Amino acid sequence: MSVPEEASPTSAPDSDPVPPEQVVRPWRLVNLPKIEDPRGNLTALEGLREIPFAIRRVYWIYNVPGGEKRGGHAYRELQEMIIALSGSFDAVVDDGTSTARYSLNRGYVGLYVSRMVWRQLENFSTNAVCLVLASAPYDERDYVRSRQEFVDLVRGR
Ligand code: TYD
Repeated sequence: MSVPEEASPTSAPDSDPVPPEQVVRPWRLVNLPKIEDPRGNLTALEGLREIPFAIRRVYWIYNVPGGEKRGGHAYRELQEMIIALSGSFDAVVDDGTSTARYSLNRGYVGLYVSRMVWRQLENFSTNAVCLVLASAPYDERDYVRSRQEFVDLVRGR
């Protein structure tokens, strides 16, 4: 059987040695299990199963006034899973090299964010509830709140 022409492997152009799908970013969307039921849907998470860390802390952000932003910092070690339990908001993530914006609006989709990612939450809808599962207890020393310090750290300065 002949291989369709479009399925033939092609080499990437010199200017783009790594195809985009092979670039590993320190964040990713995760489809969470959804148990559909006429009585209402259910999603359950277990640390080290659906998410790649043991859950040490849970917090949620709610009653966000229109136009307000949360976050605007990075963590030296903390990993998080961010889920829109209700309503919607945007998560903007940035590793110092590239940035991405995700509109989160489903209770069965999480955004996993690894360490050393500048992240901001914005565009909250009126009824939005943002659930965050975190890999460590709260520790202000883990925060990088200065953008300049973040840029210096990711560039190894
Ligand atoms: P912060 O993480 O700066 O909020 P955001 O990044 O969502 O804008 O936290 C705001 C305040 O809440 C700050 O004084 C620390 C406190 N806080 C805790 O006490 N425990 C926690 O788990 C978190 C996330 C924050």
